[in-house]
Amino acid sequence: MRVISVANQKGGCGKTTTAINLAGSLALKGYNVLLIDLDPQAHASFGLGIKTDQLDRSMYNVLTRTDTKRKRLSEITLHLWENLSLAAGHILLSTIEQELRNEEDAIAIVYRAIDSLTASYDFIIIDCPPSLGFLTFNAIRASHLLIVPLQCCSLSLMGVGKLINMVELVQLKLQRAPKVKGLITVYDKRTKYGKKMFHEINRYFKDNIFNTAVRANVTLREAAERGVPALKLDKNSRGAADYMSLAEEVIIESRKLFLDDFYKEAEGFMADIGTKLKAQTFTLLAPEANNVYIVGDFNNWEANRINRLEQMPDGTWEKRIALKPGIYKYKFIVDGEWRNDPHNSKTAPSKFGGLDSLLVI
Ligand SMILES: Nc1ncnc2c1ncn2[C@@H]1O[C@H](COP(=O)(O)OP(=O)(O)OP(=O)(O)O)[C@@H](O)[C@H]1O
Ligand SMILES: [Mg+2]
Repeated sequence: MRVISVANQKGGCGKTTTAINLAGSLALKGYNVLLIDLDPQAHASFGLGIKTDQLDRSMYNVLTRTDTKRKRLSEITLHLWENLSLAAGHILLSTIEQELRNEEDAIAIVYRAIDSLTASYDFIIIDCPPSLGFLTFNAIRASHLLIVPLQCCSLSLMGVGKLINMVELVQLKLQRAPKVKGLITVYDKRTKYGKKMFHEINRYFKDNIFNTAVRANVTLREAAERGVPALKLDKNSRGAADYMSLAEEVIIESRKLFLDDFYKEAEGFMADIGTKLKAQTFTLLAPEANNVYIVGDFNNWEANRINRLEQMPDGTWEKRIALKPGIYKYKFIVDGEWRNDPHNSKTAPSKFGGLDSLLVI
């Protein structure tokens, strides 16, 4: 599952249009998508045909700590069509920052709500309000990728630095933050001015900008008014094509992020082996035996294929195990018979009766 926020404190730069149409395109490609509308204006909900004033449950219920109103994310989620679901926004979201001002760790509520989901979504897209407040911070905290829509006009880069500072703050606090990628919207390459802004935005974001630039297209406007993504209104429109192309880039980006995470985890694991784990060799001379296992605190006392020792040509059985520093009791099982380690004089009372061999690392 990949969580993607669409944020920029500048109003009207195409956040909601991007959230709706990216979610719709990913869903059409067969991915299971949840769109979270975290904006009190609830434009993403309206843009998907949901009138939030008639709803009795929304993201407000997920964020509030008032017991009588509080709901799980899965309880407020509406299934719209095929692979697309919506967690609706609500005007009450505008009161949530005030309501939670004394709440500890309030910044992680959206993260925890997503974490507790049992339904498996491939993508969760969060549409943020046009501000750098509590709701946007919550979305960034929960995300793997942050898309910053930039309308191709003057002042479009104004304030972007503050948004990036917020991401850096999350990185500082958690040693983990979403990757930031810019997205040019309402692009008109026919004008000199459009081209100039295009180059300016590209220069600012360097490699961290989507190749897709969403062109100015009236179908995107009409679709939002009719409560559907552009591809439902006119799948041949430029708007539908551009967001389909963005979806393809997002899928590739998500795979890259997945690999980055994998390598980071693998590096951590290798570092763990190098610094914390110690290799321990266990040996037992038993030339007559058919099977020798080692069982102990480190493997739940289970004799299985993984814990079987290997027989050497001279009749010695051997196994190397990497263990964290600690105190372990263990025994060998030789053809069903439990034996202590003859090379180890340290013993301790066994929970099975008698004594176990004792290992201190
Ligand atoms: N590529 C486009 N071509 C034409 N119109 C567009 C395009 N993208 C967005 N719009 C229109 O611009 C207006 C603002 O877009 P949108 O609501 O997506 O911005 P927003 O950043 O979510 O706004 P807010 O900050 O209020 O949440 C809408 O009327 C939308 O239909
Ligand atoms: Mg919006």
